[in-house]
Amino acid sequence: MSQQLSNDQLTAIAQQYGTPVYVYHAEKIKEQYSKLIHAFEGQDVVFYYASKALTNINVLKYISSIGCNVDCSSVNEVKLALHAGFPAKRIVYTSNGIAFSEIEEVQSLGVHINIDSLSNLEKFGKKFGHSYPVGIRLRPNIMAGGNLKISTGHDKSKFGIPVDQIDKVLTLVEKHDLYIHNLHIHTGSEIKDVEVFVKGIQVLFDIIPRFKELDSIDLGGGFKVPYKEGDPETDITLLAQKVKEAFAAHPNPNGRPLQVWFEPGKFLVSGAGYFITEVNVLKETATTTFASVNSGFNHLIRPMFYDAYHHIQNISNPAGELKSYSIVGNICETDTFAWNRQLNEVREGDLLVFYNAGAYGFEMSSNFNSRYKPAEVLVKDGAYHLVRKADVFEDLLRNQIMVL
Ligand code: LLP
Repeated sequence: MSQQLSNDQLTAIAQQYGTPVYVYHAEKIKEQYSKLIHAFEGQDVVFYYASKALTNINVLKYISSIGCNVDCSSVNEVKLALHAGFPAKRIVYTSNGIAFSEIEEVQSLGVHINIDSLSNLEKFGKKFGHSYPVGIRLRPNIMAGGNLKISTGHDKSKFGIPVDQIDKVLTLVEKHDLYIHNLHIHTGSEIKDVEVFVKGIQVLFDIIPRFKELDSIDLGGGFKVPYKEGDPETDITLLAQKVKEAFAAHPNPNGRPLQVWFEPGKFLVSGAGYFITEVNVLKETATTTFASVNSGFNHLIRPMFYDAYHHIQNISNPAGELKSYSIVGNICETDTFAWNRQLNEVREGDLLVFYNAGAYGFEMSSNFNSRYKPAEVLVKDGAYHLVRKADVFEDLLRNQIMVL
């Protein structure tokens, strides 16, 4: 039975901590992780939580405590992961377009690094040679993902070293005696079709024999989660079966068993997150009834940035008559969360909850319009914990230097 916070719990949290507020449900994260572990049981598969989805330190600690590893896209995510208690050996770092100095800093922290350009591979080789095992992020030239903005593996993408440049990679490996122990691909986010992963694996199988010291393959993240009723999700069980079959048919020519890594972000935390807002103003116009909430794309940018759908419910009036509303924010932009959405009758002061708010919600928030970032609350074992305070006015001035 899938875990869900009740309207009563969400209402109590809103009353206790105010709105807008992000809420994360620890046990739901565990449920998602268990699904992965269960599906891949018996296979040498390891999961690294893509922390870019949500880096609240308590969430990181919780994810570490349930045995999941962590994937980081910046040195600061690595430092947060270390701060949360992940040992370096359970951390993967995959950045892109980054200055070599950051890679050097990450190397000094002892975590696994995937390198995403020939330029940085050359610098890495010159400096570390064979002394530090490293991975290479390849661009498999596969179009995948929910929309172009979240597609990363296609043949025009900036991410990874194009597979067609593999000879150049091998020249560098030879020249600097690089110790390549991992190959990485990540084709996109919201990949519902398991065959996309299979295609990626096939691309790698053509290349694997050319790397003599490989011990692992990183297939990235991107598992699709449902955002609305009837939405498809990645069939994890089928994926596990396909991965098993593919690797059984292609044993590593160097004789070492290949461990498979995945880096799920949304799959682990999306459904565990709720964003609670309050209706400030109802506005009737000739064409539309607007419900303006005390938020905007400064707090949840996904609907505006990706045209992403987030299910929204009026938890203050669950028996109210269904009516059509456009849910908008209160910032000075056309920050529409949803057009003509059926909601139980909305009154000013009602609480509107956005679901699937755990991944890339708070994490992509900003102080646009000099508004505060919201608080975050973690629900664990039924108890509510404030895990981040909402901004206060001083936060807006904190790093500004008064010179006039
Ligand atoms: N690994 C790498 C190298 C990635 O770039 C990403 C996501 C992931 C793993 C995790 O992907 P996930 O399992 O969360 O789909 N902000 C967008 C999603 C951008 C994802 C960027 N990279 C959104 O809100 O839809």
